[in-house]
Amino acid sequence: MLQKLSSFAGVQGPVVVIVMDGYGLPKSDAGSAIAAARKPTLDRLFASYPNIRLRAHGTAVGMPSDDDMGNSEVGHNAIGAGQVYSQGAALVANAIASGAIWQGAAWQEIVAGAKSGRGVVHFIGLFSDGNVHSHIDHLKAMVVQAKAEGVKTVRIHALLDGRDVPETSALDYVVPFEAFLGEVSDAGFDARIASGGGRQYITMDRYDANWAMVDKGWKVHVLGEGPQFPNATAAVNGLREQNPGTIDQDLPEFVIGENGKAIGTIEDGDSVVFFNFRGDRAIEITRAFEEAAFNKFDRVRQPRVTYAGMLQYDGDLKLPARFLVAPPAIKDTTGEWFAKSGIAQFACSETQKFGHVTYFWNGNRSGKFDGETWQEIPSDVVPFEQRPWMKAAEIADAMIAALQSGQYRTLRCNFANGDMVGHTGNFFAATLAVEAVDLSLARVLQAVDAAGGAALITADHGNADEMYELDKKTKQPAQNSDGSFKAKTAHTLNPVPLILYDNVSGGKLGLKQTATAGLSNIAATVANLLGLEKHAAWDESVLDIK
Ligand code: 3PG
Ligand code: CO
Repeated sequence: MLQKLSSFAGVQGPVVVIVMDGYGLPKSDAGSAIAAARKPTLDRLFASYPNIRLRAHGTAVGMPSDDDMGNSEVGHNAIGAGQVYSQGAALVANAIASGAIWQGAAWQEIVAGAKSGRGVVHFIGLFSDGNVHSHIDHLKAMVVQAKAEGVKTVRIHALLDGRDVPETSALDYVVPFEAFLGEVSDAGFDARIASGGGRQYITMDRYDANWAMVDKGWKVHVLGEGPQFPNATAAVNGLREQNPGTIDQDLPEFVIGENGKAIGTIEDGDSVVFFNFRGDRAIEITRAFEEAAFNKFDRVRQPRVTYAGMLQYDGDLKLPARFLVAPPAIKDTTGEWFAKSGIAQFACSETQKFGHVTYFWNGNRSGKFDGETWQEIPSDVVPFEQRPWMKAAEIADAMIAALQSGQYRTLRCNFANGDMVGHTGNFFAATLAVEAVDLSLARVLQAVDAAGGAALITADHGNADEMYELDKKTKQPAQNSDGSFKAKTAHTLNPVPLILYDNVSGGKLGLKQTATAGLSNIAATVANLLGLEKHAAWDESVLDIK
């Protein structure tokens, strides 16, 4: 049980945390869809309620360096757990630097498994240095090590990014990597890219939003079915010609063929490493490889392979069974300790971010704690620039109903718009996305008032705050040769807001801006608003109780 605070009995009504995904505070309004949006609710909140800035990127959320942008996994882990753990990106980099990864049973089984079969190791994953789901340097190290340990053939199934890195940067990765593979290949070692496609088109679906993507990925990676090209560089060039204006994340699938035959089908006796360290978009393809009884799509055949994930993606489901690096052992989350303190909790989002407020929030666990109620609103299955309002209104409806029910002492939700629409690189759609959130926020806050509660309004990282790549020197939007702005699809390094919406304490409550304030300070702040001391493991509260 968390102890009662002596200085404050807590807000009488419910305490609500609202995450506006992808809502950062930019240095300049140029290129910011947030600045361009009409958002009377947020304007009013910033003008009239206590608000501070929180760090949401780099080491403040467990990333290897302060050059790393934040992302939803590390952001929601930090918010939900109130602590900063070294995250997958850092853990894998360290395990490779120390060599510990090669000593682990999982890597040794991958190599031994391949050697006892055809000698083939497949690596499937996100092919960039975005460091959100994966890093290409990890892949490089594994290729070199596989060769050193006598593996004969490496086949890489490359998911083109353009979402955590510039939107048409695929060749910046593919060309040098194919050159590197050419250099390490010799008479006894053949390493090549074998298949791939845009990450939003194949394989990397999340939260059961669109299994057809995984089905397509399976056909390409495992069965070798798809349009053939002689190498990945030719594939990217060819697909771009055939699909003008399509950015990398949306490019269709490709297969590398030789004499009409796919060079990298996955067969019995092969080993497969899914080299993403982040779990949300790794779970579905992992299930397709691991589950004996599987009904999400017709696999046609299930090759008997030695399979490993870079990390374990779900600690509750033990998925996958074999993993190269142990994930951060996130414990003592707010979900757990509020449950132990008898507090009823409600969590809600739409499919695309549902796992963020449940699975990531609770420390990458898919199970509920006692007294938790989760509500998922099904997301549209369309490119989100076509529906920038997404399910903001429906999430607000669900939150209002939950608030009116009087059943929950604390509630949380995530509005996906700023992030999901921000990732499309469409500036106009992103302004509508922010406006949709503003409208829904106003409705939820009215219900918070009616319930006598208070709310913290924040974000997990930036995105819609910079819709154009900024020139490194001038900090103004960078231009293409034709004068148009270079669209930016990735997250930003900007801080995020924390607003205290409180019409109940009579001015007793405020927020403290500290030099190090970050997302991990929210958990203790929520506890204090509930009238409770923070857990000893949580970072300090920023609630100022006068
Ligand atoms: C994605 O998976 O969509 C992006 O790589 C990161 O976005 P998120 O961290 O906001 O989910
Ligand atoms: Co995002």
